[in-house]
Amino acid sequence: MSAAPEVFPAQLDLWRERMEAALARRMPSAERLPQRLHAAMRYSVLGGGKRVRPILLLATARTLGLAEEQVEAAACALELVHVYSLVHDDLPAMDDDDLRRGRPTCHKAYDEATALLVGDALQSLAFELLARDPHLAASPAVQVRLVGLLAEAIGSVGMAGGQAIDLQSEGQQLDIGRIEQMHSLKTGALIRASVMMGAACAPQLDARLERALAGFAAPIGLAFQIQDDLLDVLGDTATLGKTAQSDHERGKSTYPAILGIAASQERVQRLSEQALESLAPFGTEADPLRAVADWLLARRN
Ligand code: IPE
Ligand code: IPE
Ligand code: MG
Ligand code: MG
Ligand code: MG
Repeated sequence: MSAAPEVFPAQLDLWRERMEAALARRMPSAERLPQRLHAAMRYSVLGGGKRVRPILLLATARTLGLAEEQVEAAACALELVHVYSLVHDDLPAMDDDDLRRGRPTCHKAYDEATALLVGDALQSLAFELLARDPHLAASPAVQVRLVGLLAEAIGSVGMAGGQAIDLQSEGQQLDIGRIEQMHSLKTGALIRASVMMGAACAPQLDARLERALAGFAAPIGLAFQIQDDLLDVLGDTATLGKTAQSDHERGKSTYPAILGIAASQERVQRLSEQALESLAPFGTEADPLRAVADWLLARRN
């Protein structure tokens, strides 16, 4: 589907390297007081992860003809918020997981109180970047819009709300409509924000094209969590870098648990097609986003 699939894996690696360096530069040094908190923040953020949300923002920026340097700080903000959500998600009070990105979870490597504070501090740093990163080439109006998009995506009507529904539903059988709602909030909202924050960096963007990007991002976000549920069942711990089968053990309401594996895979396929159809108004300009969609569809972790 992508214009140049053979060059895209190399582009993904370049974007990941770029993000690693960009994040490392923006994180407080582990020598700075309080050293243990800063070390735990760096441990959690650096050296792992697919960097899906920053890559979605960078691919959106490329589609819209924006320079990567211009949006790099916003891409960092997305990853910092995502890592905060993972650190809290793994705590005993939530999913109680020991392994993340192939390493002990933050609360295992450090302790629970530190993991709570790591999440708090990463969220705060994310908004600080949007407010005053010197490299974020955005007007104050765009900065305010970025803050609003990120805040809305991760609050009680976004990620945190989805996490609340997820925990409250353990041991119950949600119907598929409720699962989709939960998935769209807990994971879809931040994925959607990744694309829409890219769009917000292009303030002259035509409303029709902005709607096209929203039409791409929403199904991609839902598909991403259905795939995460599928990988929990079909993947192995070494490939995933997190403990396989953990949803079943926690009595989570997941897509495959309700609809089965084949129907869940079909749903992912259909959502991905729907996302790609939404990009039609861009023509070939949106090839970076098409390539990201192809990559996500084929992912194994
Ligand atoms: C895992 O996200 C948690 C979900 C929201 C499904 P990712 O699959 O993006 O995890 P990393 O960042 O690559 O570790
Ligand atoms: C996590 O969903 C969603 C957020 C962190 C917001 P999961 O609980 O399914 O993620 P994993 O499987 O632990 O990565
Ligand atoms: Mg969870
Ligand atoms: Mg979890
Ligand atoms: Mg999961």
